[in-house]
Amino acid sequence: MIFNLPCMEGVRTPFYYYDMELLRSTLAEIKKYVDGTCVHVHYAIKANGNPEILRVIAEAGFGADCVSGAEIEAALAAGFGNASIFYAGVGKTDEEILLGIEKGIGCFNVESIEELEVISELAEEAGRKVPVALRVNPNIDAHTHEYITTGLEENKFGIDMRCLDRAVDMALSSKWIELKGLHFHIGSQITITEPFAILCERINKITENYRAKGVEFKILNVGGGLGVDYDNPDANPIPDFKGYFGTLIRGMHLLPGQEIHCELGRAIVAQCGSLISRVVYVKEGIGRKFMILDAGMNDLLRPALYGAHHKIEVVDPRDSDATEVYDVVGPVCESSDVFGKDEKLPAVRRGDLVALRSAGAYGESMASEYNMRKLPGSLFVG
Ligand code: LLP
Repeated sequence: MIFNLPCMEGVRTPFYYYDMELLRSTLAEIKKYVDGTCVHVHYAIKANGNPEILRVIAEAGFGADCVSGAEIEAALAAGFGNASIFYAGVGKTDEEILLGIEKGIGCFNVESIEELEVISELAEEAGRKVPVALRVNPNIDAHTHEYITTGLEENKFGIDMRCLDRAVDMALSSKWIELKGLHFHIGSQITITEPFAILCERINKITENYRAKGVEFKILNVGGGLGVDYDNPDANPIPDFKGYFGTLIRGMHLLPGQEIHCELGRAIVAQCGSLISRVVYVKEGIGRKFMILDAGMNDLLRPALYGAHHKIEVVDPRDSDATEVYDVVGPVCESSDVFGKDEKLPAVRRGDLVALRSAGAYGESMASEYNMRKLPGSLFVG
């Protein structure tokens, strides 16, 4: 990829580089398939809560999916409409629930019967009826990394199918709860449509079952999870939204007035971001060369935490034909601070710039100050 970098003299690295033109094209591509349909897209803020990114996504008319009180506040500050904000999470505190009630958010995605009881009590205290969707654990294997699969029975998320009747009865019997829908999420970085098609079938079964008992749900929220191509970001900068939305629209049996909601994070922001870093040293090890960067696992945690691989590129190589094989590592005092092993790359020298691609999702948002390192900066281009 060609990076449009200003004069880098004295610029502090590492920083996140955001291709805003790609972000806008990605949003436009989504709108092509959902505008005028019953599908509503909420951006999962956890993927990237940078205020500038949020502003552009809010401006494009998307809703927000939040998992903390701070994310609700960030969504409101960025211009997301109050009613477009949905709030999920297994451990919502009283303070966070009250914030959501006070701000009149569109839906609480409730993860347990215990939480439902607390929301009902707090809604009564506030004197406001609260919109709720029950998060169901559909027990579907999303075939993704074990740390990012969420829809299996053994995960902490959602209400087990066997307890759903009780939760529905409770929600219907509380006069402070407006039962609006059901919520699902089967995992993240899902690159095949099959798990989504299976999820639609599962949802149809559940809604038909409740329809027979006279219970209808307006909101059917399928969660997020659509993956991106980390190996070939230039060949596939925009995910297959046509296939994804087509699967949902074809797969769900809806009545008039029913809505499909989804909460995409990674698919919206991953490809527009790269982490730009400088080579600090090229160290000759025994039988291997280490390219030591000034970016570490505190700046981009995914490789260390999930064994993820982000494509590594030398920015403006001196000579693309002169290649070397490097282990590309960060400066943090952990052996897992490794971005790539045996990477064949153009030869670099101290001071050269390197890009870690597809880092727009769960990059900046998961950055920390471990080792007392400064948080990475951000640059918006286009
Ligand atoms: N909705 C719910 C209820 C979720 O738990 C998540 C992500 C999303 C939506 C958005 O999923 P997405 O469309 O981005 O796949 N840090 C990990 C990913 C964790 C995802 C957690 N939940 C990573 O870097 O791969």
